[in-house]
Amino acid sequence: MCGIVGYAGNKSVVDILLDGLEQLEYRGYDSSGIAVKCKDGIKVYKAEGKLGNLRNVLSNCLDEFKTSTCGIGHIRWATHGAPTVLNAHPHTCTCGNLVIVHNGIIENYKELREKLTASGCTFRSQTDTEAVAHLVARKYFEVKDLTEAVRLASKELEGAYALCVMHNDYNNTIVATKRNAPLLIGYGENEFFAASDVPAIIKHTNKAVYLNDNEIATLNPAGIKFIDGEGNVITPRVETLPWEPVALSKMGYKHFMLKEIHEQSDVIRNILIGKLHAPDENIVLNEVKLDKNTLKNLNRIQIVACGTSLHAAMVGKYLIENFCDIAVDVEASSEYIYRKTVTDTHTLVIGVSQSGETADTLTAVKQSKARGSHILIITNRPDSAMAREADSLVPVNAGIEVSVAATKSYTAQLMAFYLLALYMAEIKESMSKTDLQALKAEMMQLPQKVDQILAQTDEIKKCAHAFANTKNFIYVARGINYPTALEGALKLKEISYINATGYPAGELKHGPIAMLDETMPVLSILMLGTVYEKILSNSEEAKARNAQMIALTNSDDKKLDDLFDYIIRVPAVQELFSPIIAMVPLQLLAYYIAEFLGKDVDQPRNLAKSVTVE
Ligand code: M6R
Repeated sequence: MCGIVGYAGNKSVVDILLDGLEQLEYRGYDSSGIAVKCKDGIKVYKAEGKLGNLRNVLSNCLDEFKTSTCGIGHIRWATHGAPTVLNAHPHTCTCGNLVIVHNGIIENYKELREKLTASGCTFRSQTDTEAVAHLVARKYFEVKDLTEAVRLASKELEGAYALCVMHNDYNNTIVATKRNAPLLIGYGENEFFAASDVPAIIKHTNKAVYLNDNEIATLNPAGIKFIDGEGNVITPRVETLPWEPVALSKMGYKHFMLKEIHEQSDVIRNILIGKLHAPDENIVLNEVKLDKNTLKNLNRIQIVACGTSLHAAMVGKYLIENFCDIAVDVEASSEYIYRKTVTDTHTLVIGVSQSGETADTLTAVKQSKARGSHILIITNRPDSAMAREADSLVPVNAGIEVSVAATKSYTAQLMAFYLLALYMAEIKESMSKTDLQALKAEMMQLPQKVDQILAQTDEIKKCAHAFANTKNFIYVARGINYPTALEGALKLKEISYINATGYPAGELKHGPIAMLDETMPVLSILMLGTVYEKILSNSEEAKARNAQMIALTNSDDKKLDDLFDYIIRVPAVQELFSPIIAMVPLQLLAYYIAEFLGKDVDQPRNLAKSVTVE
């Protein structure tokens, strides 16, 4: 993971780097660092932990860097080596003349390290990146040209990387390259930027080049040069970024997560705009290129995703099988990519990703594309690497999600699946017009129902405070809400560090029930519909083992009052849409528990928003 940023221009560099890194903090916050070219050579500043610590380090320094106009910066999510100052980037070669920042993983770093140590290099950190610093320095010693040194070194690297390199022999120059990790080059007036993602540079420019694998850019205020991996000069396409600089604000909420939970009714409204006008009109998905013939020729659909997106995909399977009569498999991308998968031109492969850059999902999508499958991407980032692989696209329009724990993007992904499944059912004519209309009418009611939940959070808060000190938590559900149980548990784990697990309620008696006693809370997701009575019976079984019982329900059944210690009530909804209605209170429950415990809700330990390493 990690985020990198570089600037070569005519303005004071430090604030540009720090602002850029702040925008990339979603990619990691284990440590940060910058290297700037000063009058007497390159200076490196680093700090452990969040960016604020680096700001403190810099405020204690003399103003030696204030006039510097060229530098590189890094925000780290630790992969190799603990999150210490020593392992923080930028890393330097033995003599300190060359500095480097890196996002990705160098898979052959051990071999390189051995070889370079044997040839006299002194390693100071445990990182894979330091091997690249020494390797490029060696090549530079041989060829005396920084761009060529980076090109030659790249040939010996295995794995994924986006790199920015500076050398003391060069004034105001950065060399940048990438393979299987994102890097874009921004164009200003007599100034150039390099960054892992748009938010780091959008304040300064909306003109940029997305670097392709193995391409190398040499940035200098006097001009920019691009070469391909073979050293040929190339002229890449400069794109206009479809972004406005946005001031990220909590809008009075204590955390971004709470704000993002509260944005969800608007997120649903936004995704429906232009796609569903009225129940008796067809769904409009302009960027989906699946006609009747293609759908007829499909023999299966595979959905690949990770984390929260994987849970959305599981709901998607339920919907597509239900509405369209096509078999759907869902798999964690990290499993999908290292086995023989039976995918061909008759398979539709759907990649789901908030960020559009999760490395495992991106690889899964590329593999399936190479086998000739139609690729459909559901993402919050239509400008992402994954979206660029798409034959069909469903943008989810959730807006920027700052909190590491995904909330509104999950709801938006679910909405994308409702729209897609109904759209395919319309084309395939696999459902009656009356049923389709009824579902579309119900879907249009969702924003008001979510608003109702958000207006009544007291019961949820009470429940959260009652269970905040528990060590374990079990979530159970069946059918279309089994993924809701998994997602509810994931939210709680991520931000409170409580050991929470989601189970299909019917599986409790096949093992997990052994864990139940009076210290174990069991939250049953009891939505009216096909499996309501079944989950009720499973809840009775848990109650009989003295578990502390919580219900999340849209039933007003009086029986529940005796069975459950706490009841969280939500509005009535057609069963197929209940995952949206059920998830919002579970997000709030996780939030209020973590907030009560004083956890770092928006930036939980060990996590990063965007996981760009396999
Ligand atoms: O950007 P993606 O949707 O591909 O990310 C996938 C997961 O890393 C992500 O959903 C993660 O599980 C979140 N922290 C969940 O809150």
